[in-house]
Amino acid sequence: MMSKLELVIVLAAGDGTRMKSNKAKVLHEIAGQTIIQTVLAAVEPLSAKNLTVVVGADKDVVVEHISKISTKIKTVEQVKRNGTGAAAQLALDEHNGDGTVLILAGDTPLLTTQTLQEFFTAHTEQGHDASVLTALLPDPTGYGRVIRNDQGLIAQIIEEKDASSSQKEIDEINTGVYLFDLKALRQVISKLESRNAQKEFYLTDVISLINKNGGLISAIVSNDYTETLGINDRSQLAECVAIMRDRINHQHMLDGVTIIDPTTTWIDSQVKISADVVIHPSTALSGKTIVGAKAIIGPRTTLIDCEVGSEATVVESFAIKSKIGPSAQVGPYTYLRKGTVLDNESKAGAFVEIKNSTVGKGSKIPHLTYVGDAQIGQESNIGAATVFVNYDGENKHQTKIGDQVRIGSDTMLVAPVTIGDGAYTAAGSVINEDVPAGALGVGRAKQVNILGWVLRKRKDSKSATAAKKAGAKE
Ligand code: UD1
Ligand code: CA
Repeated sequence: MMSKLELVIVLAAGDGTRMKSNKAKVLHEIAGQTIIQTVLAAVEPLSAKNLTVVVGADKDVVVEHISKISTKIKTVEQVKRNGTGAAAQLALDEHNGDGTVLILAGDTPLLTTQTLQEFFTAHTEQGHDASVLTALLPDPTGYGRVIRNDQGLIAQIIEEKDASSSQKEIDEINTGVYLFDLKALRQVISKLESRNAQKEFYLTDVISLINKNGGLISAIVSNDYTETLGINDRSQLAECVAIMRDRINHQHMLDGVTIIDPTTTWIDSQVKISADVVIHPSTALSGKTIVGAKAIIGPRTTLIDCEVGSEATVVESFAIKSKIGPSAQVGPYTYLRKGTVLDNESKAGAFVEIKNSTVGKGSKIPHLTYVGDAQIGQESNIGAATVFVNYDGENKHQTKIGDQVRIGSDTMLVAPVTIGDGAYTAAGSVINEDVPAGALGVGRAKQVNILGWVLRKRKDSKSATAAKKAGAKE
């Protein structure tokens, strides 16, 4: 491990002007985590002695967000955003200690720990004053270009905006990831000037300054240029999000998950999926979702912070903060809201919405039903178009349903109400009193047939003709 890393500086103060956003660039999300969180997650295993993030844009929110990630991370504020060099200097001023510093940007979330580790190893082996992680890009537009000297070391980094047309032809770019000997960096950083196209203090200019001091700078080329892509605008955000999606899906497939269409399957970085799960197209597994072995998810399903048991199926559905037990069946077209717990082998079918409710083992809610604030026992059946009337306009109330209950179709269960074990309700009932175990609850008007009504009141209608033909009398 990188035990020798004295300090890591993450530059994240920039306004992210090109994002055209109200929130800081580093707070935009990629696979369910903020950009800065993703960068910090790659840096964390390096176990540097000190970690400083330079913040500025949307400072209070960014500082609060970082403190939730880890209390060990120090933040330094850059009030005036006058360049990456100025930002790095602020972090250096707050630190005294020798050794190696890793500096990287808070807007390159695809970098992996492995690449950073390999970069450090290469830097240590070469033993120079500084190393720059570079990449060969198919389209280097917008990035700083790496200018090498006769020995193949770096002489200078020139920003796109300051580059001549021949320098723009160079396809080796600065990824914005650097390792410096702290002493060598401190000697030059205060000498930075802002005489350039953007009138900023560029961190990249320390390279030529170190060079002038007789220092040597290695260029270490990254094997996978996609890792080094930076996010400056929403188009680059989408590009990085798609690369991250492919990377996450690839890993799950290697771990034994079948993904039918990886281009339309969006899995957040913290999601856990067991082997032999099958994921159908247009499915999103978000937040801290966990999926057990052999479950079948999708198509067109979104699960946010859900737990899905083994061999469960969830088809064309949307669920948030819900537990779907082993072998349970959900969907198509089911909406499970916060606090839904479906026990083993239970079912929530088409056009069923459930919130804050437990559905016992083997119980079924097959069609067109709203269940709110309820506890349903085992192997009960809720008939089509039942509504758990949980809200009286001011407060929410509970409904309790025992084991082996049969709720007739179109029952209104007006909470608070309890239906005992083995009880039935008649179809079309409004149930606002408890039904004891084994009873049939009937809560509807008795049916009356008014004979001959159509023949009298709708004399010449087609219905009257049909009724007469069937032998009906006035
Ligand atoms: C920078 C590099 C460029 C490199 C590219 C890689 C410089 C001058 N240029 O360009 O050579 O190819 O990254 O992605 O460094 N920041 C601050 N304070 C500031 C300005 C920026 O903290 O005053 C932070 C930003 O929040 C960002 C990072 O530094 O995370 C890089 O800044 P950005 O403006 O995105 O630089 P690039 O134009 O991408
Ligand atoms: Ca950038």
